[in-house]
Amino acid sequence: MKKILLLTSGGDAPGMNAAIRAVVRSSHYHKLEIFACHNGYQGLVDHDIFPMQPSDVTGCIQYGGTILRSSRCRAFYEKETRQKVKEFLANKGIDGLVIIGGDGSFRGAALLESEGGPKCIGIPATIDNDIRGTEYTLGFDTARNTALAAIDKIRDTAHSSNRYFIVEVMGRRAGFLAVDAGIAGGAEYIITPEFPVSIEKLAKQINAPKREKKSLIIIVAEAGKPGISLEIVKKLRDLTPFEYRVCVLGHTQRGGSPTVMDREIGSRMGNLAVNSLLDGKTNAITAMQKGRLTLAPFPDPDAPCRQLETSDLLNLSEVLAT
Ligand code: F6P
Repeated sequence: MKKILLLTSGGDAPGMNAAIRAVVRSSHYHKLEIFACHNGYQGLVDHDIFPMQPSDVTGCIQYGGTILRSSRCRAFYEKETRQKVKEFLANKGIDGLVIIGGDGSFRGAALLESEGGPKCIGIPATIDNDIRGTEYTLGFDTARNTALAAIDKIRDTAHSSNRYFIVEVMGRRAGFLAVDAGIAGGAEYIITPEFPVSIEKLAKQINAPKREKKSLIIIVAEAGKPGISLEIVKKLRDLTPFEYRVCVLGHTQRGGSPTVMDREIGSRMGNLAVNSLLDGKTNAITAMQKGRLTLAPFPDPDAPCRQLETSDLLNLSEVLAT
């Protein structure tokens, strides 16, 4: 292993820069040549790679997003595109590839390695925390704290003006963000993709509270339909007598300065990725399992993503709301 290439792919997430910094500096420490490309796999398709020096990552750890920029590159799902990329990387002498991204990005990496391309290691990053094989993905902690800060602010105005609020958080296929921000923010109800509730049933619960509440917060995960809370509120207005407002947090959850957790885990995962390439342990992602950092195989692209296994936290929010 002499030359490594690094890229960030898919949806950006806070903590990616900490991982980039760790990959670049760990490579330098081990006297490996380190290259990067802009815009994820698109940069490889465009043959746009450049060397990285330790000084290139100075002052980036505290910023959200990715200094390498990212994209969702559909062309990389085509074998012909990967074949061309494989030849390009072989000509440049690249032996190892570090991909910081989500499960779509890992699918491309697993195929590239199996087709004779460079050895690949993935670092899981998505604010949804829904990648199979790891209990933690970079960006999740920052995003849940961003959502919580917003919920706290909404609580002030909801309480003061006797209003009911629906706060929509991200979470395409999983409700991890919704339950954590919801429990920490004292939400009365939480709706996730795993445990959908009928609006009629929710309206019944709202209409028959155990204790009269003048204000209330419902957290809804977007479940792949950004703006879904606007549909929900229409129905609730018909079925209940209360005054509602909606707040869609959207991409505010994707940005911002990473928390301690995202910087620390990003640094550790970046370092582990380089060590794993050096040890010949590839075709894998860096993974958090039972609180310990380890390696796990690239997630099976045909298996469902990681999701909430129980409705315990949803039930807890209702108990604590009484
Ligand atoms: O996968 C992370 C995520 O932030 C999802 O929660 C959300 O559904 C999606 O990305 C948004 O993607 P885009 O930025 O491409 O609209």
